[in-house]
Amino acid sequence: MSAGPTRAPTAGQLALELPIELPPIELPPIEIAPEWKDQQRLWGHPFHPMCSYLASFPAALAHAFIARYSRPGDVVLDPFSGRGTTPLQACAEGRIGVGNDLNPFAHLLTAAKVEPATRAQATTRLAALRLAWNVDSAAWLALAERVVLDAGEAGVRIPAAGSGTGADDARETVPLEVALAFHPRTLGQLLFVRTTLRLDDRTDRFLAAAITGILHGKSASYLSELMPNTFSMAPRYVRDFARRTEFASPDRDVFAGLGKKLDRLFREAPPLTEGVALLGDARDVATRARDALRAKGRPDRARLVVTSPPYLRVVKYGYYNWLRTWFLGFDARAIDATLDDAHHREPYLRFLRDVLAGLRPVLTDDAVVVLVIGDVETDRGRRIKGGIGLAERAWEQAAEPEGYRLAGVSLDDVAAVRKMTKLWGDEAGRATKTDRILVLGASEAGRHRALAGAGVDVDWSWPPRTLRAL
Ligand SMILES: C[S@@+](CC[C@H](N)C(=O)[O-])C[C@H]1O[C@@H](n2cnc3c(N)ncnc32)[C@H](O)[C@@H]1O
Repeated sequence: MSAGPTRAPTAGQLALELPIELPPIELPPIEIAPEWKDQQRLWGHPFHPMCSYLASFPAALAHAFIARYSRPGDVVLDPFSGRGTTPLQACAEGRIGVGNDLNPFAHLLTAAKVEPATRAQATTRLAALRLAWNVDSAAWLALAERVVLDAGEAGVRIPAAGSGTGADDARETVPLEVALAFHPRTLGQLLFVRTTLRLDDRTDRFLAAAITGILHGKSASYLSELMPNTFSMAPRYVRDFARRTEFASPDRDVFAGLGKKLDRLFREAPPLTEGVALLGDARDVATRARDALRAKGRPDRARLVVTSPPYLRVVKYGYYNWLRTWFLGFDARAIDATLDDAHHREPYLRFLRDVLAGLRPVLTDDAVVVLVIGDVETDRGRRIKGGIGLAERAWEQAAEPEGYRLAGVSLDDVAAVRKMTKLWGDEAGRATKTDRILVLGASEAGRHRALAGAGVDVDWSWPPRTLRAL
């Protein structure tokens, strides 16, 4: 059984350069071995890698907790679902996965995974798009040529995303960097598809999400090779790079690329159960989640939460996805203005406390709450005060005051964090090697369940043997 938190020696305090007024506390460990680190990179359902998303955690990490702390039919919630790792993994294991995010791009990815199209719906829609393209391609290709020739000068206008209109419905200009990224024919196809797909339609949303996953990357399966798959390079960098290298994108067929992407996504049957994807602030997720679950005739409280709250001042989800957000018709600046990714430590901890308070009404009494919290060392090269030991602070200042019970902390050096650090070097926030995973009970019953489940053997075959019978 775990004891309460204890103060650690001051030598560590000096080494970590923590402010004197906040000596580090040491939380009791929980005996959950990080077996998720031993699994293959693409472990889990093939929908997981639909599109790259910064600071996402591996599906195997979600599985380690879903397998221990929920049963088929239980509700599993992630109030910061990102690309939908927890809710998708939950649905793939016969649970009701509920994901919520304030970022419309994250919501789209989560919805595409937990309320997906069937293979037949997706391929039929793709065939219809191809036919419609064959009829209208001349007008779209002419529009794309004008956009490329214009190179951002006079501002050739194109139809709005999702407007469902023809190529002559002039509404908005195309950023120069978009025109630079694609071959004119690929751009013509993208303009057509972007205008035609309706994001409120399940099948269209699935196809749109799949296209965001192939929009840019450094191999022949991507529609532009101008930038890596993981994130969009800064627009100014794109302009300079394209000018310096006289970059000309190879001709890539959107329909062929999407067809191959669908083959990869449907390598396995869609998830066993359908989940819920919500768009909104994590602080008021409880009411929205309960309403949505009741409307589906599902239990309206979660037995498990597996989530990773936003990092401290590290990721700008709009800015680093501007090409994808352009394709979807979302405003990247507006996304960054609304998300809670830019907090310093104290406002961040207050935000987290509000989130944990807001979650209570949607939790069962014996719920287990798993918080994956990344330490952050620097912000654009400058050392952050209090970025280290954030999980301990989160316990002390956010979870404990809201009546949660601590089962223990498990350490992990999440691969995504290393990946981010490598990509950005000192330009952006620098995450340390270690993420801490706080395992909490919503009550004493939840804490007992968390401790009892820690030692359970987890099946790491995929799909797990226990599920093949379902
Ligand atoms: C570390 S990421 C979660 C990644 C996720 N675990 C995955 O595997 O993809 C944190 C997420 O919090 C979201 N976010 C930021 N502020 C939010 C808020 N106030 N309410 C809900 N989501 C928010 C961001 O859009 C981002 O997707």
